[in-house]
Amino acid sequence: MELLEVKNLTKKFKGKKGDVLAVDNISFSASKGEIFGLLGPNGAGKTTTIRLIATTLAPTGGTAVVGGFDIHKHPAEVRRQIGVLTTDIGVYDRFSGRENLRYYGHLYGLEGQDLENRIDELIKLLDMSDFTAKRAGKYSTGMKQKLAIARSVIHDPKVIIFDEPTSGLDVIASQTVIAFMHRMKELGKLVVLSTHQMPDAERLCDRIAIIHQGKLIALDKISVLKEQTNTQNLEDTFLKLIKQKHLRSEPQEEQEQKKGMTGDSKIKLIRQIRIASLIVLLIGIAAFFIPSLQQYSIVTNALILVGALGAVVTKTYFKKYK
Ligand SMILES: Nc1ncnc2c1ncn2[C@@H]1O[C@H](COP(=O)(O)OP(=O)(O)OP(=O)(O)O)[C@@H](O)[C@H]1O
Ligand SMILES: [Mg+2]
Repeated sequence: MELLEVKNLTKKFKGKKGDVLAVDNISFSASKGEIFGLLGPNGAGKTTTIRLIATTLAPTGGTAVVGGFDIHKHPAEVRRQIGVLTTDIGVYDRFSGRENLRYYGHLYGLEGQDLENRIDELIKLLDMSDFTAKRAGKYSTGMKQKLAIARSVIHDPKVIIFDEPTSGLDVIASQTVIAFMHRMKELGKLVVLSTHQMPDAERLCDRIAIIHQGKLIALDKISVLKEQTNTQNLEDTFLKLIKQKHLRSEPQEEQEQKKGMTGDSKIKLIRQIRIASLIVLLIGIAAFFIPSLQQYSIVTNALILVGALGAVVTKTYFKKYK
């Protein structure tokens, strides 16, 4: 069983101008020791997805299972399994950094030396020792963000979900947060990272899910998505996948779904046919030059013809679908 399983998760918001399907039937799973990226343009539904998993919002449909606990049946256990950092999670300005962490530690039932040790560990990991004695109200954006991160993982959760953890941070503070995520991965945690920072996602994520208009439009390793879109960096991959989604008209998409074939699987199939055609072509050419096979010239010519035809036709289709 995976540490996080999201199954047909759906959230509809009722608005004055009509309903908004913020999360539309999303499914994915992620396992321990993985950094899983959640990417998508503004308003795609990333934060809503995170809130549904974190049980701070109730879904309209579907479910999520965290560490074996279902968000509907065991919300309290789910909250113990995960540490969530979203943009609206604040800290108490009147308390010092250490007092903030103590306060949140107590909420999770942590006490005494164990709690102090955990706080010390996080202060070290997030490079916060210079300012944790000061009141949080005097912190810079970067200091506050580090404290918010420490606060969200005080109870040592198995799943850590970060929504834009490096937004508004300078290069040095970003590096500390990135190193922290690496460390969490090393410790066997599952880190879910929602971000707009493509270089961060590219460096950190093992797999990514791209969400667009509430729908999951891509889910794979970055290298696979790059290959599928014939792009060199994640920003181009992202833009191409979003553009493909826009270009594909709705009726065509419905037809493809009926046939069980999406644009991605079509490209894969065409690539396989192309490789097969090239192999047939090479076999034909090789056989053509073997003297003992010259009595079978009809067969070798046919192989060359079929192989060449396949290679040309698939190349044309390949260009069209990219
Ligand atoms: N509480 C709410 N009530 C009504 N609509 C909402 C609510 N929260 C989010 N939405 C809408 O749901 C959609 C998805 O929003 P969400 O915040 O999940 O996007 P996001 O991918 O996190 O975007 P961003 O990258 O800008 O943070 C948007 O259209 C947003 O306006
Ligand atoms: Mg968001």
